[in-house]
Amino acid sequence: MNKTGLESILRVTSELGSIQDIDLLLERILLMARREVDADAGSIYVKHDEREGEGEERLLIRYAQNDTIQKTLAPGEKQIYTIFSLPIDEKSVAGYCASKMEMINIPDAYNIPQDAPYSFNSSFDVLTGYKTTSTFTFPLANREKLLGVIQVINKMDREGKPIPFTREDELVLTNFAVTATAALDKARTTRAMILRMIKMSELRDPSETGSHVSRVAGYSAEIYERWAHNHNVHGDERTKFLDILRIGAMLHDVGKVAIPDKILKKPGLLTEGEFDHMKHHTVYGAGLFSDTNSLVDSLSMEIALSHHERWDGTGYPGWVDPFTLKPLRADKNGRTLGKKGDEIPFAGRIVAIADVFDALSSKRAYKEAWEEEKVLGQMKELSGVQFDPELVDIFFDVLPSIRHTQAMHPDAAAV
Ligand code: C2E
Ligand code: SIN
Ligand code: SIN
Ligand code: SIN
Ligand code: FE
Ligand code: FE
Repeated sequence: MNKTGLESILRVTSELGSIQDIDLLLERILLMARREVDADAGSIYVKHDEREGEGEERLLIRYAQNDTIQKTLAPGEKQIYTIFSLPIDEKSVAGYCASKMEMINIPDAYNIPQDAPYSFNSSFDVLTGYKTTSTFTFPLANREKLLGVIQVINKMDREGKPIPFTREDELVLTNFAVTATAALDKARTTRAMILRMIKMSELRDPSETGSHVSRVAGYSAEIYERWAHNHNVHGDERTKFLDILRIGAMLHDVGKVAIPDKILKKPGLLTEGEFDHMKHHTVYGAGLFSDTNSLVDSLSMEIALSHHERWDGTGYPGWVDPFTLKPLRADKNGRTLGKKGDEIPFAGRIVAIADVFDALSSKRAYKEAWEEEKVLGQMKELSGVQFDPELVDIFFDVLPSIRHTQAMHPDAAAV
């Protein structure tokens, strides 16, 4: 690749340093690591130790990328990788790397020396028909504290044949790991602050976790990415919007902090008066982001305010000033008009779909979880009524990725 070290470090620092959402960051880190060394494929794992008292620490896969497999998919389609975790021990390559905090350069995965403590797991190759040859596995660690592991796979020569990773690649990626770890640490702090904010609001019940908001952020991201693909939005513009959309989506219901438990946790149906009170979580949420100097604040405000508007104009809170609650547009009886169609901010239209899909699919204090078939039927029925029909079509186009996101963030787990 022959980039000068400093040039490469500056570029990596500036790209990774601008991303605030941890999931997007993990995806970009893997993509950039692969590009640095011309790797055809790779995986990124994070150390999973959120649940205490469960003994062993594990490595949890967060993203897998494979250009060869990607080329077999339709444009805009995303790979669905298998969700799995590995014990942090010496038996697997990634586990060894994590337990010893050592990089491992393997020229041929099917010819690992007999005396190596670890062995190569070929089940992925068997499953996909892909042939793993060279791998380079290195830790992301901050002052002896392990955050994760990256494995890049099959360095490609000019003819597209796999060749071993070189000594120079080892140096490049060791440097890269320092920058990536710093960016990851910052994003983890942001994520921890968001989760703390959410705990204070919607998730006062400790049996609930950040799973709902992680799913809503994930679904929103899937919908936006396909929308961006369809509309030819790429590069920085797409990454930047995706980043703040994920954060804003996580915070969509943070205004529930101002709703009393008596209403929020009511096991049955709300009275009309209670529901009117509940509706204020949109404007309360918007009020928390009144420092609209930053893009992430202004998009979070937009999402908090508009995620319960409906395409047909019957949603809430409609055309109000979020600070004074004064109607900005009213009918002749003085009732606030709802926003409809394109009047609803784009991000609000995306999160509305993600939020309702998740609410229907999950158990709530006031309802049981619905079967997927019933949920999807409802989503279809609400297209053009409650939801932007173009975005509902996209939702169905990316359903495999939506299901994958759902499986990545089950209710019981804290990831
Ligand atoms: P949530 O539970 O997160 O639900 C979000 C949205 O999902 C709801 O917004 C609604 O659009 C949709 N949704 C949820 N359940 C159903 C359902 O059974 N059928 C259909 N068609 N849509 C459903 P909505 O209605 O504006 O409610 C906002 C929030 O108010 C809810 O967030 C929940 O926290 C609360 N809420 C609404 N209805 C009740 C209720 O009857 N009892 C209680 N305790 N809370 C309620
Ligand atoms: C790419 O930049 O090569 C695709 C990754 C993405 O934009 O999500
Ligand atoms: C946007 O890209 O923010 C606007 C797209 C739309 O309104 O559909
Ligand atoms: C991590 O701990 O690095 C990831 C956790 C998350 O994505 O919430
Ligand atoms: Fe809400
Ligand atoms: Fe919600």
